[in-house]
Amino acid sequence: MLDKKVSKLLNEQINKELYSAYLYLDMSSYFEERGLNGFANWYMIQAQEERDHAMLFYQYLHNNGEKVTLDAIGKPDKIFKKDMDVLKAGLEHEEYVTSLINAIYDAAYKVKDFRTMQFLDWFIKEQGEEETNANDMITKMELFGSDPKGLYMLNQELAARTYSAPSLKLD
Ligand code: FEO
Repeated sequence: MLDKKVSKLLNEQINKELYSAYLYLDMSSYFEERGLNGFANWYMIQAQEERDHAMLFYQYLHNNGEKVTLDAIGKPDKIFKKDMDVLKAGLEHEEYVTSLINAIYDAAYKVKDFRTMQFLDWFIKEQGEEETNANDMITKMELFGSDPKGLYMLNQELAARTYSAPSLKLD
């Protein structure tokens, strides 16, 4: 049995990760409509990764005999007027998710739930990578995005991103 608060936060995180997937799908859709298929690919893979994250929380709760409660997923209602809006919203969202993961870690730490802390270690590292990726995208866009040739090259680079399953695996 997990601590009630830890279990509740882990449960809520399933929803937050699924919302993240939904948000990135919306971002992918924005770029699809713009004709920037490389960017659309990058955000589509991001959406797949978020679904994986949700499933890791789902599986961890089940593995620990906890009840999983699925809630409604919020509507991604951000209006993107330009490409940079999407990139910045991505970074802002990842910083928010980092704060959520930290809050679960803090709750687990307070009740000496070392198992959950160890499970969350992977997410702590993952959030560092997610924020770096989002920051790198913004930097590249600032450097090359205003020039059509630069944007074309950047789009080509992002088209090469391929999906790989998370390195963390739960039975
Ligand atoms: Fe699941 Fe992008 O954090």
